[in-house]
Amino acid sequence: MNKDFLHVDDWTRDEMMAALDLAVEVKKKLKNREAYTPFKNHSLAMIFAKPSARTRVSFETGFSRLGGHAIYLGPADIDVGVREPARDVARVLSGYNDMIMARLFDHAIIVELARFASVPVINGLTDYNHPCQIMADILTIKEHVGRLHDLKIAYIGDGNNIVHSWLRLSTRLPLHFTCACPPNYPPDPVTFEIAKQAGLSTVEVTHDPLVAVKDADVVYTDVWASMGKKHELEERKRHFKGFTVTPKLMSAAKSSAVFMHCLPAQRGLEVTDEVMESPGAIIFQQAENRMHMQNAIMLKLAGKA
Ligand code: CP
Ligand code: NVA
Repeated sequence: MNKDFLHVDDWTRDEMMAALDLAVEVKKKLKNREAYTPFKNHSLAMIFAKPSARTRVSFETGFSRLGGHAIYLGPADIDVGVREPARDVARVLSGYNDMIMARLFDHAIIVELARFASVPVINGLTDYNHPCQIMADILTIKEHVGRLHDLKIAYIGDGNNIVHSWLRLSTRLPLHFTCACPPNYPPDPVTFEIAKQAGLSTVEVTHDPLVAVKDADVVYTDVWASMGKKHELEERKRHFKGFTVTPKLMSAAKSSAVFMHCLPAQRGLEVTDEVMESPGAIIFQQAENRMHMQNAIMLKLAGKA
């Protein structure tokens, strides 16, 4: 197994499936309040260069529920790559901690952090990808759609870090993944090409949300302007007209289709209130599963399970 978890496809399909099974098992233990403290006397350093609710709380709560201590390091504490180079931060934190989780802007910085850290490094989102989110998403799909095979996922919106994670997942798990984005906001073409060439899944980019959602089991969206791009929101609103997930768009998917969003959502932009509050929305189950999935990821990386 790789020392770090920086991309979903850092893991083989078998490693991924084993981690999903472990997540289900550990979730049950936590729900039953069983005494289970594999991270007793362990600490996790969490570096955040960007804001976060889910990632911070799920990692911190998860690690402490497993008996360990998690330390939050905000932008004012460690300005990785500015106050100190990543290679120095990596070795300093490895001296105190058993694991490092980082949410950064530039993906190259987390790669450098991992290269120089002697302990496992977990990607809690970069401008490029969000692997923990996508692992939690497939756990949620497994629980609520009931299967991980023959799935059609329709993503509507910006070709961003979430899309890159889906594309990289498609090289490990056979999927039909369609991204509907405005012409100027496509996913990274290299990542798209790699996913296509891998030949395991059907991956497509379209500019028509209605085409994308046809026969979809899952309709997924994310904010139109990610962290670091918020200043572009007004301009983006013009380009993303027609890319809102509405009840009408949902009704063009399978009747059993679920709605997913990594959150935080900007209601009224990428998705309407009605869809967010509809019975088919599994967004809060998705958010909760961040903790259970990440617990399994950390246990696997630490060699505890
Ligand atoms: N989905 C997610 O990563 O949420 P936060 O930005 O709140 O951590
Ligand atoms: N694409 C979003 C995801 C937030 C969890 C962002 O990067 O801001």
